[in-house]
Amino acid sequence: MLRDLPLHPPSASTFAGQVDGIYFFALVVSIVFSLLIAVLIVAFAVRYRRREGHEVGEPVHGSLWLEIGWSAIPFAIMMAMFFWGTKVFFTVIRPPADAIEYQVVAKRWMWKFQHPNGQREINDLHVPVGTPIRFKMTSEDVIHSLFFPAMRTKADVLPGRYTTLWFEATKPGSYYLFCAEYCGAEHSRMIGRVIVLLPHDYETWLSGGAGIKSPEARGSELFTAFACNSCHQDASTLRGPALAGLFGKPVALADGGHAVADDAYLRESILNPTAKLVAGYSPVMPTFRGQVNEDDLMQLIAYIKSLQPAGGGAATPQRAGFDGEMP
Ligand code: CUA
Repeated sequence: MLRDLPLHPPSASTFAGQVDGIYFFALVVSIVFSLLIAVLIVAFAVRYRRREGHEVGEPVHGSLWLEIGWSAIPFAIMMAMFFWGTKVFFTVIRPPADAIEYQVVAKRWMWKFQHPNGQREINDLHVPVGTPIRFKMTSEDVIHSLFFPAMRTKADVLPGRYTTLWFEATKPGSYYLFCAEYCGAEHSRMIGRVIVLLPHDYETWLSGGAGIKSPEARGSELFTAFACNSCHQDASTLRGPALAGLFGKPVALADGGHAVADDAYLRESILNPTAKLVAGYSPVMPTFRGQVNEDDLMQLIAYIKSLQPAGGGAATPQRAGFDGEMP
């Protein structure tokens, strides 16, 4: 019933119903208790008003059961909200392992999306129904926030680091997406659409682009263009650490500490190579800050991720799904 009100967005993701459940529970509890308190205030004010000028109030004697009741019942309701909310929160915040990765770069004032096969879009986003999709997001300038009301999910997009967001669409259609963090004069126009397509329609849509390179392939080109290969190629003199099979592994650092080679680490190592210098290497790598934009960084990281330990730098995408090269 409430779902049909224009006030309430359509629900089009696997967890939209769960988010609505906890939302309406909290709403109903708030309404019931607000009404209860308001009605009691008015009723008691009328019932116990002073009728004669000389009347004096009766002293109040405590009631243990009443006090236990009004402590225990709200406590139980709050705990129910807490545990229920936590469960829904973890569903919304943790992408499934088989989610396919899209890349998002926000800038004032547009949303740049890249599909796993390399296809790009601005403000519009096409996704297949029934497939979990994970967004790896960053910003070129200020803090933005990507909000999909129909999917019941939102996450901040921050300059200088990666955040994630995921959903699995359940209903084909066109839904709004918004920037939900004030980011300047055109913030209110930083909106777009997410177009949910049936899988074969999505494949057809994807095949519409020509000359598209996957993030791995584009990253490989950048790797050569920036001459990263002159120091980081397996067969070279290894002035820099070998990168094949590095992703996700712990790295011993020159200062005796450890780091995990994740997205954030690789990004930092490209922009600020001496921040976490790998043990056994000299700080000879120049910074690439100002030369690579956020988009290039994502492609480079995608390429480094794809490097297999045994192969001599063969870029093999590791995901199953929609990451086939364009014919
Ligand atoms: Cu971007 Cu508001």
